[in-house]
Amino acid sequence: MNQNTDLLTLRSVSKSYGTVPVLHDIDLSIKDGEFLTVLGPSGSGKTTVLRLIGGLEPLTAGEIRLDGQDISRMPINKRPFNTVFQDYALFPHMTVSGNVGYGLSVRHMKRKEITRRVAEALELVQLGRFADRFPAQLSGGQRQRVALARALICQPRLILLDEPLAALDLELRRQMQEFLKSIQREIKTTFLFVTHDQEEAIGMADRICVMQAGHIRQLGTPHDLYYKPNCEFVARFFGENNLVPGKLGPAQGEQRSIETALGRLVCSISDQPHLKAAPDGASAFAAFRPEALHMADATDSGNSFSGTIADLAFAGSSTVATITTGGDAAQRLRLRMPSRIDGSVLKSGETVSLCFAPHEGHLVLA
Ligand SMILES: Nc1ncnc2c1ncn2[C@@H]1O[C@H](COP(=O)(O)OP(=O)(O)OP(=O)(O)O)[C@@H](O)[C@H]1O
Ligand SMILES: [Mg+2]
Repeated sequence: MNQNTDLLTLRSVSKSYGTVPVLHDIDLSIKDGEFLTVLGPSGSGKTTVLRLIGGLEPLTAGEIRLDGQDISRMPINKRPFNTVFQDYALFPHMTVSGNVGYGLSVRHMKRKEITRRVAEALELVQLGRFADRFPAQLSGGQRQRVALARALICQPRLILLDEPLAALDLELRRQMQEFLKSIQREIKTTFLFVTHDQEEAIGMADRICVMQAGHIRQLGTPHDLYYKPNCEFVARFFGENNLVPGKLGPAQGEQRSIETALGRLVCSISDQPHLKAAPDGASAFAAFRPEALHMADATDSGNSFSGTIADLAFAGSSTVATITTGGDAAQRLRLRMPSRIDGSVLKSGETVSLCFAPHEGHLVLA
């Protein structure tokens, strides 16, 4: 296992059902040993990507390479991958052991070896005590762990997981997220994990691939996607964001200005060559996170403007203010601050001076 080598590569992969295209020219490399999450809204093509890799569907165009070898036409049972589905797909008439060992028994492995490996896999998912139960006698989280053990036991090069936690309630889902991540760290098998839940993606992934309408919009670490979204879709889809439209001004080093209804704002463009290269006057957005916006004081030299508090919402650890600003070209912005036991320092209806630092703002082209 070497995290710097590519395990699997999709090159110019397209897929159509009949005449309807659902994936367009996908390029994607999955590194050996990484936890890669595919994130996107419903219908964006996430499951289709998994089905093509798993060999459940033929490609319309392009190729899939494993360790550099073209496997585009390799039959499903020859591919060293295993899939964990959302509905677990366990055999109801088989015990937990039977389910987990099934993949090995169809390969005619010796009984003794199967028993040993089943025990090992059940230990890994902490289900040793449940070996003789039937799926109907297990909770949702336990069934999910059986499905995982069944995928792990074949020692695949890659595990494909299609929204495996979607059927679980929130608390159990959080526990399973941590559990899956810790198992992946322990066994260092490559995971390709599909979800439409961005918090899940942020918490689990080494890298996230954001899809929309059959296209990959951005591939990067959770941190990159959060702080350097490369397009309006990712800026809006990935976490809460304030987007203020405007026209680009000149670049100065690692920063660039933008003329907006809030005045001239200055934002970071570091490591984003496409923003350095964009012409003056191009349509773009200044983007800044609700937690980057704060009340300005005399020492602030950042981007400042005034706004009126339209609403305050207590959300437990934080409080979110909705702010109207920008005069005729009215903008609604969000400001998130830590909650205080003695109530918010802001009052509804109040007009305040607000600010965000240039290094906490970024630009996206419209
Ligand atoms: N067998 C099929 N025949 C025709 N169209 C299909 C087929 N399977 C999927 N599609 C279409 O392909 C597109 C992508 O579907 P896909 O299942 O990959 O989306 P998804 O991102 O996994 O969505 P979800 O989050 O709802 O699971 C959708 O528009 C879907 O209707
Ligand atoms: Mg799907």
